[in-house]
Amino acid sequence: MVEKLKKIDPTLAELIASEIARQQKTLDLIPSECLVPPEVLQVLGSPLVNKYSEGEPGKRYYPGNEYYDKIEKLAQGRAKKVFGAGENWQVNVQCLSGTPANLAVYFGLLNPGDTILGMSLSSGGHLSHGHKVSLSGRIFNSVKYEVGSDGHLDFDQIEKIAEASQPKIIVSGFSAFPHRVDFQRFGEIAKKVGAWHLADISHIAGLVAASQHASPFLHADVVTTTTHKTLNGPRAAIVFAKKKIAEKINRTIFPGLQGGPHNNKIAAIALALKIAQTDEFRTSQHQIVKSAKVLAENLMSLGFKLVGDGTDTHLMLVNLRNKDISGQEAEKLLEKAGILANRNSIPQDKNPYSPSGIRLGTPSITFRGMKEKEVKQIAVWINRVITKKENPQQIREEVEELCQKFPIY
Ligand SMILES: Cc1ncc(COP(=O)(O)O)c(C=O)c1O
Repeated sequence: MVEKLKKIDPTLAELIASEIARQQKTLDLIPSECLVPPEVLQVLGSPLVNKYSEGEPGKRYYPGNEYYDKIEKLAQGRAKKVFGAGENWQVNVQCLSGTPANLAVYFGLLNPGDTILGMSLSSGGHLSHGHKVSLSGRIFNSVKYEVGSDGHLDFDQIEKIAEASQPKIIVSGFSAFPHRVDFQRFGEIAKKVGAWHLADISHIAGLVAASQHASPFLHADVVTTTTHKTLNGPRAAIVFAKKKIAEKINRTIFPGLQGGPHNNKIAAIALALKIAQTDEFRTSQHQIVKSAKVLAENLMSLGFKLVGDGTDTHLMLVNLRNKDISGQEAEKLLEKAGILANRNSIPQDKNPYSPSGIRLGTPSITFRGMKEKEVKQIAVWINRVITKKENPQQIREEVEELCQKFPIY
């Protein structure tokens, strides 16, 4: 692809080639990133990108949508199958990404000023769960719950906050929470206070699809997910809504927030969901969790403190307060060593611009074929960079050597 591009746009071709080389030479431990199969890339770059198809299958505002209708229905049907969503659920696969998907839910079900109850950013929630810089926190009244000092959820506390604030929506599902989410408990609290329960499974969708994490479908009214994290598909999102409220959300997605759907992405979602039904995918998700545990245990045995003392998902949060280094400095040093890990707020952090932690995850390296042996080595490199303050350039050479053995494509 890059060879052909060189002729018409050598500048861009060189930038793309450099980025591919960077991915090849780097260990990506950012838990929200993945490594999509080459077939998904092929579908994303197919002529499906050429067409408008505003509307929904069978009810389009443009002609020529016979095959797009079938592709969109295929994606919807597979989404229901992969996540075991029953007859009373409807699926929308047109959302461009996770934030617009969550906004579509709020704008579909709430009035401006209504209350959203979500987890705070420093505890591991997402901006789109009511943070003040997001429309979700500017248009709606946002109330927050936190994780306890042990890094776990305190449901009695969440219930008290819900009773006092009377939210219209309670959001469960997080961006930086290393433990399993008890969707049942969230569902019970939502029912008790008369709120909708939105389960945002963006981070754990692959785990849920492969039964590595409990499903939210029995306990939620709406389930949103990005398709580009553990699910390992294109950058897009899916919204599942109970039939009685689905139409309001569908109308918010189109024409409320978006115009023409990105058909190449919808086809790529369909393909990712086909792949998600394979034994190979299930084995990868199992390995992601296993490798995360090994990374967590190895880091702890090297003296690192983890929020919540470990992980039972794909990610972990390293508390750097005992390491005399900020999250930002750690992120920079690791990047110099060829290891990508993002700085992250941890519980009790006051300033989101100066977080005291880093977030690590195993999806990308697992899709690359790395397992426990490599993960143990990665823990040693992290310790050499952060604790021993070794020259990151030296470690980078070792990292690149390992990366060469596990090509991205
Ligand atoms: C839990 C959760 N929800 C929603 C999103 C938003 O997804 P996007 O970046 O596609 O808007 C993220 C992204 O990290 C997330 O972690």
